Amino acid sequence: MIILGIETSCDETAAAILEKNNDWITILSNVVASSALMQSKYGGIIPEQAAREQIKSIIPVIKEAFAQAKLKPAQIDAIAVTFGPGLIGSLLVGVETAKILSLIWSKPIIAVNHLLGHFYANWIYPKGRGDGERGAPLSARSEARTSNGAVNQQDPEESKPSFPCLGLLVSGGHTDLVRFLDHNKYEYLGGTRDDAAGECFDKCARLLGLAYPGGPEISKYAATGNPKAYKLPRPMINSKDFDFSFSGLKTAVANLIESRNGFEIPKRQNPRYLVDLCASIEAAIIDSLIKKIVLATQKYKVEQVMIAGGVASNKKLISELKDNLPREVKLFVPPAYLCTDNAAMIASAAFFQKPIKNILSLQANPNLSLENLHF
Ligand code: KG4
Ligand code: ZN
Repeated sequence: MIILGIETSCDETAAAILEKNNDWITILSNVVASSALMQSKYGGIIPEQAAREQIKSIIPVIKEAFAQAKLKPAQIDAIAVTFGPGLIGSLLVGVETAKILSLIWSKPIIAVNHLLGHFYANWIYPKGRGDGERGAPLSARSEARTSNGAVNQQDPEESKPSFPCLGLLVSGGHTDLVRFLDHNKYEYLGGTRDDAAGECFDKCARLLGLAYPGGPEISKYAATGNPKAYKLPRPMINSKDFDFSFSGLKTAVANLIESRNGFEIPKRQNPRYLVDLCASIEAAIIDSLIKKIVLATQKYKVEQVMIAGGVASNKKLISELKDNLPREVKLFVPPAYLCTDNAAMIASAAFFQKPIKNILSLQANPNLSLENLHF
């Protein structure tokens, strides 16, 4: 079975073609055009501008996905498209394009929740031809390892999660902890009460005058900093639920900067205050995530944990998870280029879903969430 995935929920225009052969899901092509560089000039996303860029990019990106896969539209079995959540103008471009292509090519549509899609990056075995526009290595793959065990390179059963499995989604718009019992059967355990983890990275970076998106910037500076240099709050870290709160951290960073009348303009590269503050911010966000995920593995006695979303590409988060999860727990982390928004994850999720019955009734839904119980 071969599926074309389309993803346009935010500032990435993405198309990918994936194949499922028995247990293997492989990438035949994976194309991502991003307007993030343009958005970075403004320190964040301007929705109308993101939507305009989506319109310009969508057809060339889909054409490129077919060219890279060396396939014709007649050779695919279905079209998968993100129908929410996200920016309405951006979502509309993908959804309406998918509807038109589905009618022209007589192919069914599978409508995918973007948040669920992120988790399905963990089911991809990216050994195929598609090595992505971002230069992802051909050998990149979802990592599966126990904290003391070797990575299994070959067995598809070993290289993807099985159920029950705990999932943590950490992206720019969402921080959600979910217990999966099967495909499309999950229980929502908790999420952020205010800012998402990625949003907190982005807002702190903006306060520090760093570029957007802030996560990779903060983690770059954090690498040489002291995470204990600044005492920053970790709201809700000791609450017994599975919720998170990050807006207090952003406020604490703003107050810290103000109390010092702003930090001095750096006269040299990587000034100490900047690397230390970045390391302290990163540690505060990661501590809260680790605490709740460890609590959930204990409560539900799960032996599999997967992470997903842009923040899941944070190296410190991955190493802290490996250090803090019980030895018998298997951790799944997608390769970095499948953590941030892409269409491969959307096509991957679609292999486990049914096509929609009435194509013309499909509507973009900017407010879609994971919060409804899916037992
Ligand atoms: O999943 P994603 O590409 O888009 C959403 O669906 O939101 O996530 C983007 C978020 C941004 O907030 C970005 O700052 C964050 O992921 N991010 C990171 C890293 N790479 C991306 N945060 C921390 N460390 C990183 N290495
Ligand atoms: Zn996303």
